[in-house]
Formats: sequence, C-alpha cells, structure tokens
Amino acid sequence: MFITLEGPDGSGKTSQINPLAEFLRQQGYAVFTTREPGGTPIGDQIRTVLMNLENTAMHPRTETLLFCASRAQLVEEVIRPHLAKGEIVICDRYADSTLAYQGYGHGKDLAQLRLLLDYATGGLTPDLTLLLDIETEQGLRRRQTAGSEWNRLDAYEIELHRRVRNGYLELARQEPQRWCVLDASQPTEAVQAALRELVMRRMPPAHTLNVR
Ligand SMILES: Nc1ncnc2c1ncn2[C@@H]1O[C@H](COP(=O)(O)OP(=O)(O)OP(=O)(O)O)[C@@H](O)[C@H]1O
Ligand SMILES: [Mg+2]
Repeated sequence: MFITLEGPDGSGKTSQINPLAEFLRQQGYAVFTTREPGGTPIGDQIRTVLMNLENTAMHPRTETLLFCASRAQLVEEVIRPHLAKGEIVICDRYADSTLAYQGYGHGKDLAQLRLLLDYATGGLTPDLTLLLDIETEQGLRRRQTAGSEWNRLDAYEIELHRRVRNGYLELARQEPQRWCVLDASQPTEAVQAALRELVMRRMPPAHTLNVR
C-alpha cells in the first residue's frame, strides 16, 4: 500500500504524517514514512540545490528535472524495496506535487509533465492519495512564524498558490478512485481523525499483509 499526502503549502502534511504512521503501527501494520524532495542521500543533496536561496538563476525546467531526479532515486532506493517487504509507505508529497505546482501553478504543459513523471517514477502510482485541502490564505498564514506579521505576498504569488489549490482539486476530480479530499482547515486533531478513518476504510486487514 503506497499512500501519498498532497496539498498546498501549510495544509498540514508534515504535521500529520507521523501521527498517522504511529496510529497505523498500533493497528499492526508495518509503516515507513518518507518525504520529497530528499529521502535518500542523493535526494538530500538534490534537495539542498533546490532549496539554496543563492540559486536564483534556476530555470523552471531545471527545477522540474531536479524534483524528478530526487523522486527517481527515492522510488528505486526506498519506496519500492519497502513496498516489496509488504510495508505501507507514506510519502509527504510525490509526483502530483509536480503536476500541481509546475503544471497548474507555473503553467507548464501537463501532458509533457505526465510523461516525465512516468519516466521518473518508473510508473509507480500511489494506491491512495490524501489531499489536505485548505483555502490559500489560511494555508500561507499558517506558515508565518508565531508572532510575526502577516506579510502580504504579492498578487502573482497568491494567484500561483490559488492555481495550485485548484489544480489539486482538479486532479482529485479526474481520479476519484485514488484521491480522497479532506478539509484541512479544521484543528489538527480533527484532520488526523479524518485521515485515520479514510485510510482504515481502504486498508486490507493487517494479518493479510506479509509483515513481521
Ligand atoms: N490543523 C491545523 N491547524 C492549525 N495549524 C496547523 C494545522 N496543521 C498544521 N498547522 C501548522 O501550520 C504550519 C504548517 O504545517 P505543515 O508544515 O504541517 O504544513 P505542510 O503541508 O507540510 O506545508 P509545506 O507544504 O509548506 O511543507 C505549522 O506551523 C503547523 O504547526
Ligand atoms: Mg511540509
């Protein structure tokens, strides 16, 4: 079972992944969690290049390819081996982030991106994708550090984040059997409860999986 967490910035993916994994372990499942970009020694080096504020000259296509390079390594080195052991793998962001941000957000060609993603992942698609949906401003506001002023992002940036959010919702509409959309504006505990319920509804009983 390969589960991905997706959603706009500040929707709570990173906050929710470990409590979800812990809950599933308590239910008897073997669970491995990872994140993008990074998750491998090579991927972490790529992450450093992607995050480096000095890399202002980075072209959008370079950025897309670096995300995909990190993902390719993660799939082969980490995700597939853990899935092969019968474990549940939960990943904080995956290929759909590229469609949402580079595709819907930055307006890059979706069909081209899908080909690239298929190449990068070797065709590995999540069994379940949980979309933590949140209104754009609320998600961005959450990312402000406690006590700091709400810095109004310029109109272009806000618009980009709106397109990302709507892109995610469109992706979920296109593949309703894979995606589940959650209201991530609720308090942390309520979002976690909803996540647990959704995942358990899709999960085969622990004893039928080849673990332990
Ligand atoms: N349900 C919630 N209610 C209020 N604050 C929350 C909630 N979930 C997360 N937060 C807070 O919002 C901030 C962003 O959360 P988090 O880092 O989990 O989001 P994310 O989806 O991983 O964002 P990014 O895409 O930027 O990595 C954190 O400070 C976190 O504590
Ligand atoms: Mg995060």
